[in-house]
Amino acid sequence: VRMTDRIHLGLTADMHVHLRSGNMMKLIAPTVREGGVSIAYIMPNLVPPVTTLKQVIEYKKELEALAPKTTFLMSFYLCKEITPELIDEAAKLEAIQGVKCYPAGVTTNSSQGVDPNDFTPFYPVFEALERNNLVLNLHGEKPGSHEEDIHILNAEPEFLPALVKLSKDFPNLKIILEHCTTAKAIETVDLIHQENPHSKVAATITAHHLSLTIDDWAGNPINFCKPVAKLPSDRRALIEAATSGKPYFFFGSDSAPHPLLSKARHVGVCAGVYTQSFALAYLADAFEKVGALDKLKGFASDFGRSFYNVKSVVCNDEVVLVKREVVVPEAFGNDELTVVPFKAGKLLNWTVEW
Ligand code: NCD
Ligand code: DOR
Ligand code: ZN
Ligand code: ZN
Repeated sequence: VRMTDRIHLGLTADMHVHLRSGNMMKLIAPTVREGGVSIAYIMPNLVPPVTTLKQVIEYKKELEALAPKTTFLMSFYLCKEITPELIDEAAKLEAIQGVKCYPAGVTTNSSQGVDPNDFTPFYPVFEALERNNLVLNLHGEKPGSHEEDIHILNAEPEFLPALVKLSKDFPNLKIILEHCTTAKAIETVDLIHQENPHSKVAATITAHHLSLTIDDWAGNPINFCKPVAKLPSDRRALIEAATSGKPYFFFGSDSAPHPLLSKARHVGVCAGVYTQSFALAYLADAFEKVGALDKLKGFASDFGRSFYNVKSVVCNDEVVLVKREVVVPEAFGNDELTVVPFKAGKLLNWTVEW
């Protein structure tokens, strides 16, 4: 292989990962490393959600037992059980790096979430996050009905004023607009930075939203996730942001496995695209397509690590992308579960080596 066919990515970071619990966790936790990721920020939307110190410490231990070379950053699920005192305590123990906020009812296991029309009941919690330098992770979709003219295509843009208000009310709080899917979201985050160069607002972008648009999930539930992939113009804006070299846009895969039986059905299709096993390969293909492979390390390693101020890792192995073709399996699983990965059966151009 030529040198240009090897890309050293250092300590890669996927700052938005769903590893689930139980049997699914046993299957998925090892795939973080398989996909080329060193450091993973773990989402708390388990059943029941992760809201106590005991739970989060236990969960991290389980993950470390399954994947001892992966560094896990942990989070709480924002709800009324989360108090400022709990945040102070969790910060002191370094048990969590942030708190994820799910607007009630918008996605998987979000029924206990919050009302983004009025975040003020949680302001004491946000103050606690701010003073401890922890992160507020936002699922940026406004809940609402068709009577209010809210639907899956405008739920993200309609949420953005709430982000702008939070960024003004908490100028020193690290806030991430997770899994951006619209040009409007990218524009808003850029604008926040133009107005305040010291802003601590960032945005994560998934691998699948760099290739999917609305036509890809209308008709294929495997590609259905929340927020849904939007228009070609939105996808172009996401690619531009991801390859811009701006440190406030970085990688969060939102890899969200569901059993095939929960995806391949005509009612109650679960939202989530599973990308973990080939996370870096999907990114490399998308970056290569626009001639921006030189921007991949910033996006997939440096910017996320620096935003979260990751000081230590459990394993210093560095990942290298090698230009070698690989076919994504049609499915994988164990005795009880089958999971279908993103781009199943398709050829990818890059493989990871440790
Ligand atoms: C579970 C999930 O998504 O959280 N599956 C599902 O479709 N409900 C997987 C798990 O918790 O093991
Ligand atoms: O598609 C999604 N799936 N979006 C989310 O926000 C949650 C996730 C999941 O947990 O399955
Ligand atoms: Zn989310
Ligand atoms: Zn998610």
